[in-house]
Amino acid sequence: MSYASPRALWATRLGFILAASGSAVGLGNVWKFPYITGQNGGGAFVLVYLICISVVGLPIMMAELMIGRHTRRDAVGAFIYLEGKRSFWLTPGWISVGAAFIICSYYSVVAGWTLDYVYRSVIGSFAGQPAAAIESLFGGLIADGPRQLLWHFVFMCLCLGIVIGGVQKGIERWNKILMPVLFVLLALLFMNGMLSKGAWDGICFMFQPDFSKLTAGSVLEALGHSFFTLSLGMAAMITYGSYLSKQEDLLAASLRVVVLDTVIALMAGLAIFSVVFSVGMEPAAGPGLVFKTIPVVFSQIPGGTMLAIFFFLLLAFAALTSNISLLEAQVAFLIDERGWSRRRATTFLAGLAFVVGIPTALSYNSLSEWKVIGDRVFFDSADMLASNYLLPISGLLISIYVGWFWNGSEEKQELIAGGAGWVYPTWHFLIRYVSPLAVAVVLYFKAKETGLFDWFPTLLP
Ligand code: PFF
Repeated sequence: MSYASPRALWATRLGFILAASGSAVGLGNVWKFPYITGQNGGGAFVLVYLICISVVGLPIMMAELMIGRHTRRDAVGAFIYLEGKRSFWLTPGWISVGAAFIICSYYSVVAGWTLDYVYRSVIGSFAGQPAAAIESLFGGLIADGPRQLLWHFVFMCLCLGIVIGGVQKGIERWNKILMPVLFVLLALLFMNGMLSKGAWDGICFMFQPDFSKLTAGSVLEALGHSFFTLSLGMAAMITYGSYLSKQEDLLAASLRVVVLDTVIALMAGLAIFSVVFSVGMEPAAGPGLVFKTIPVVFSQIPGGTMLAIFFFLLLAFAALTSNISLLEAQVAFLIDERGWSRRRATTFLAGLAFVVGIPTALSYNSLSEWKVIGDRVFFDSADMLASNYLLPISGLLISIYVGWFWNGSEEKQELIAGGAGWVYPTWHFLIRYVSPLAVAVVLYFKAKETGLFDWFPTLLP
């Protein structure tokens, strides 16, 4: 079979690295990683996380890029290309495009919150206000459906405007602008943190290993997070890989993305915790950390208004470059498999994701009584379904497929083409045994934790 052509490719290597790390670096890095690190024993957790990223995340990222580059198709089309239309192996393709759609819809609502906070920082809502008043703004926002919908709409329009421009003129071009700005903003916030008097406490909080806090649950958390943070199991890396040149060394490219993602998460953690400790506050977990504690902290330090603008812009840019990869993963599907034009596919999908995001934005106000899965509101249900089930299931199937069923010589060819043939035995061992086992364990425990076995008691061993 010949490659579907002509297909747009990344114009430059840097373009790909920035786009793929743009996808990886998102709310997960700036917001979630720092607080789960704090909750799970600091340095001990960082160590476990690094191991998970290297032995599970990196091999699966390579596998996804490999599938995309080999087939030059979207995530569903890739498996059709490899196994034919009726194969069971279309399942991970469908699941990952479905997961991309679900996450895109609610990620945009949360990204909308960050835009609201950029706006509030610019108009000076936090400066000089008492802490309680600042903290109550967040409750006010999530109780306000129309306001969230407005920002959700604005954010989705931004994604639409970028993705509609295509691979080179839209996604690559904007990542080349947004990612460097993101680095500069983060570097400024990081330096601010390191120069504050909470720097040492921040470093200890993040890196001092407390093995007593490290439980089996922490290991699961680290594994689960390594999936989300590297944008795996969501069709994004397969799609971005499909625009990658055959000359690229897949190991080097994946390593760059993984390292950037990790460094940014660590820097974000240090930037946040050091300023939090510098004003003698305790770091909160969950959304409260960035949407309550951080604005309070910045309202109390010199230059805080500017720092708050930087911080929320950083979050908004990180969310934007991630969400465009989610949208692109679905757009590529409609273009490749259904023959739609990019313009039509992007407008349709962004519109649909906006509509499906509406109940998310209303989850803590008008629709708070609507429990969708168990006692979870719509937002929590969508997040649980995508993060706890769809991602690990598609990751598991992808690693089983690549490790056991895909033609080894094609895989080798993909590695050899870019000069990384030597890594094949190690990579193959990890993707064949280690990744599927690790992901299966996460899936099992997540299912247990979220009550799947209460509905199907017979499944329990
Ligand atoms: N990696 C992003 C984060 O850490 O926030 C989230 C994400 C983006 C997941 C894009 C999946 C994806 F395709």
